[in-house]
Amino acid sequence: MSMFLNNAWYVAGWSSDLAPGQTIGRKFLGQSVVLFRTQSGVLGALEDRCIHRAMPLSQGHMAGEMIRCAYHGLEYDSAGVCTRIPSQERIPSKARVRSYPVQEQDAAIWIWMGEAERADVADIPRHAMHQDPAWAWRGEHFKVAGNWQLLIDNLMDLSHLPYIHPHTIGGDPDTHFRAKTVAERSDNGVVVRRHMPNSPPPPTYVAAKGFQGPIDRWQEIEFMPVMLRIHTGACDVGTGAYEGRREHGFSMMGFHGITPETEKTTHYFWSMATNILTPGVVDTVFEQTALTFKEDQAVLEQQQLRIDENPLAPLVDIGTDAGGNFARRQLEALMRAERATLSPAA
Ligand code: FES
Ligand SMILES: [Fe+2]
Repeated sequence: MSMFLNNAWYVAGWSSDLAPGQTIGRKFLGQSVVLFRTQSGVLGALEDRCIHRAMPLSQGHMAGEMIRCAYHGLEYDSAGVCTRIPSQERIPSKARVRSYPVQEQDAAIWIWMGEAERADVADIPRHAMHQDPAWAWRGEHFKVAGNWQLLIDNLMDLSHLPYIHPHTIGGDPDTHFRAKTVAERSDNGVVVRRHMPNSPPPPTYVAAKGFQGPIDRWQEIEFMPVMLRIHTGACDVGTGAYEGRREHGFSMMGFHGITPETEKTTHYFWSMATNILTPGVVDTVFEQTALTFKEDQAVLEQQQLRIDENPLAPLVDIGTDAGGNFARRQLEALMRAERATLSPAA
């Protein structure tokens, strides 16, 4: 039974990962893929296995618009069709490899690992902050030795902040306990909202914005299979944070592309954008976010080790799991529907 949702758009990389003429080998959902950009700028994603003798195509290189295998020089176009065999004229009709739909949007490269005819680029979640001059942002790619759903759980339940992240975005535990949390289904996913009125500012907020007194803080999480957007931030108390007047405050807009690599390893493509455009502040926010997410990575990897010792041992839910459980149930339903179309007898 597949443990992945195949029919979904996943982040495969950042646009800046691939200059014209470059190739990258990455595994998504247990399948090895070569990503490339041709000399003219066209993106491609092919099964990373030459049809001739199974050499990884990611070991080859671009020859103009074609990718050339490193072993005997077979060339493929971005649809995966072999266009040249240097040693002969005739090209067998079976000489083709699987190609995956790819699309560049909002500075990320998105890939569809499922049935190609179901892929619709209009379904790719938008993240306009990557193009908006009102925001400054940086992106990263972590490889996490943990299951992808552990990362979704982590991001859907921010009550871990005071424990795991006291030095950056944490803050006083009592503030987090008192936070009213609303979790509900949205049109295409789940949303979680938490408000922390009149609370002490955590260290990153002070470093970025120089808050001197208590703040009205918010955390707004949108889950859309399979990425999350998390808007956190604060304004000085009573200055409109909860009435939609936030421009004068401090915002951190997180993008979290969560792409399973294998059942036990995950690509984490994240970016952090802020509305404070001063160069030093952007650096501080990005560096503190990277530290924060490294703390999460360490947690996920330790969870995975314990889960591996005893995969079927029970886990008990608490109230703050509401949002994460909505996401898990939505994913389960989607995966169940996918399995039903693939094997009606199952
Ligand atoms: S294995 Fe690729 S050309 Fe022979
Ligand atoms: Fe965290």
